[in-house]
Amino acid sequence: MGNTFLNLALLIIFHFSMPTFSMKFTTILTDQSALLALKDHFIHDPKNVLTINWSTSAPVCNWFGVSCGSKHRRVTALDLTGLGLVGTLPPHLGNLSFLSLLFVTNNSFYSGLPVQLSNLRRLKYLSCGNNSFSGEIPSWLGSLTELRRLFLYQNNFKGVIPFSLGYLSKLEILSLYENQVSGSIPSSIFNVSSLQKIDLSDNTLSGSIPSVPRALLSLELIDFASNNLSGHIPKDMFDHLPNLKELSLGLNLLSGTIPASLFKCKELQLLSLVYNKMEGSLPIEIGNLSMLQYIYIGRNHFEGEIPKQIVNLTLLTLFDCCQNNFTGE
Ligand SMILES: *[C@@H]1O[C@H](CO)[C@@H](O)[C@H](O)[C@H]1NC(C)=O
Ligand SMILES: *[C@@H]1O[C@H](CO)[C@@H](O)[C@H](O)[C@H]1NC(C)=O
Ligand SMILES: *[C@@H]1O[C@H](CO)[C@@H](O)[C@H](O)[C@H]1NC(C)=O
Ligand SMILES: *[C@@H]1O[C@H](CO)[C@@H](O)[C@H](O)[C@H]1NC(C)=O
Ligand SMILES: *[C@@H]1O[C@H](CO)[C@@H](O)[C@H](O)[C@H]1NC(C)=O
Ligand SMILES: *[C@@H]1O[C@H](CO)[C@@H](O)[C@H](O)[C@H]1NC(C)=O
Ligand SMILES: *[C@@H]1O[C@H](CO)[C@@H](O)[C@H](O)[C@H]1NC(C)=O
Ligand SMILES: *[C@@H]1O[C@H](CO)[C@@H](O)[C@H](O)[C@H]1NC(C)=O
Ligand SMILES: *[C@@H]1O[C@H](CO)[C@@H](O)[C@H](O)[C@H]1NC(C)=O
Repeated sequence: MGNTFLNLALLIIFHFSMPTFSMKFTTILTDQSALLALKDHFIHDPKNVLTINWSTSAPVCNWFGVSCGSKHRRVTALDLTGLGLVGTLPPHLGNLSFLSLLFVTNNSFYSGLPVQLSNLRRLKYLSCGNNSFSGEIPSWLGSLTELRRLFLYQNNFKGVIPFSLGYLSKLEILSLYENQVSGSIPSSIFNVSSLQKIDLSDNTLSGSIPSVPRALLSLELIDFASNNLSGHIPKDMFDHLPNLKELSLGLNLLSGTIPASLFKCKELQLLSLVYNKMEGSLPIEIGNLSMLQYIYIGRNHFEGEIPKQIVNLTLLTLFDCCQNNFTGE
């Protein structure tokens, strides 16, 4: 009787500890089965790289594109860039619990990013550019707190940019260009103080440009060109972007004047406002931005004289001001 009770108790304890046990106790064999699942999900491997190379007769850490940690010998990086692979990413990839780098750029992966990838707590670099991924940009990406670089460019992502991306406090590069993302740019995005480059060009984003609520000392590139953004550029947008080098807002529906705060961006090399509905004059302070190489302000409603301070921009190689209402010389 006593024994039966003890057995039952043990069984219950065992039963309830089992799920956590099996989730935490992963080994290189877990990594191997995740990669074999990925291999099963290719429908085409034109160079036969993985079909031949990813064989259980060799250690996983020696497989093509796979790197392992030197101490724990678990898969830390998977680089399948440019192999012409066609297929989907299986949920099993979420079991690669030591993965910090996942590169699948320049292939033909399709369908969505499996939610199980949200288990990859160590992921720093996720590069899915130039594939055929579709569906929404998942909001669980915002829970990958180690993420530094997120490349989802040149895919078929639709829907809105999740607000949660603003929680990625280590994010440096966000590249979503050439998708079909719509809606407005979430106000959270300029709240990421580590941001270096943000490229949302060639989508169908609308609404106005969010303001920049804090100093973004590392931000070098803002490219929102070729969308449907409207309204004024926020007045104080450039108050705390001292290292901005490229600003591309062309091919939108922006109106209003060039904000004076822009002239605080002393490092600016490229300014593109081409093809908008902007008005007012080109301020003389443009001559203070001595690093400028390219100015594209054509096809707007700018007026007045072109400031002669422009001649002091010794690095300037291209100045496009066509189709405005400029007067004078
Ligand atoms: C698989 O690829 C790796 C890395 O390129 C190489 O070192 C190894 O010899 C290959 N193995 C086979 C069986 O082709
Ligand atoms: C890995 O992930 C898949 C799908 O998410 C799951 O079915 C499988 O049991 C997991 N565990 C191991 C150890 O492979
Ligand atoms: C993808 O392919 C293009 C064209 O061949 C190449 O320029 C680019 O560097 C490749 N991207 C990566 C990340 O290797
Ligand atoms: C996209 O990747 C393919 C290979 O899958 C490559 O041929 C093509 O040049 C790449 N396109 C761009 C724009 O990099
Ligand atoms: C910006 O970040 C701060 C903390 O760093 C947080 O309190 C605030 O809610 C965030 N705002 C937005 C719009 O995400
Ligand atoms: C952009 O906005 C205009 C006018 O509001 C609208 O007619 C057009 O369909 C929009 N284009 C896209 C690609 O959303
Ligand atoms: C901008 O340049 C003008 C001379 O063209 C100078 O008088 C002015 O102080 C400069 N402004 C700033 C903020 O550097
Ligand atoms: C230039 O000004 C005229 C007269 O004010 C106006 O009719 C025209 O639309 C303006 N053109 C541009 C490109 O702003
Ligand atoms: C150009 O810069 C020089 C030296 O800083 C200054 O003396 C001159 O007034 C400037 N010219 C214009 C047109 O701003």
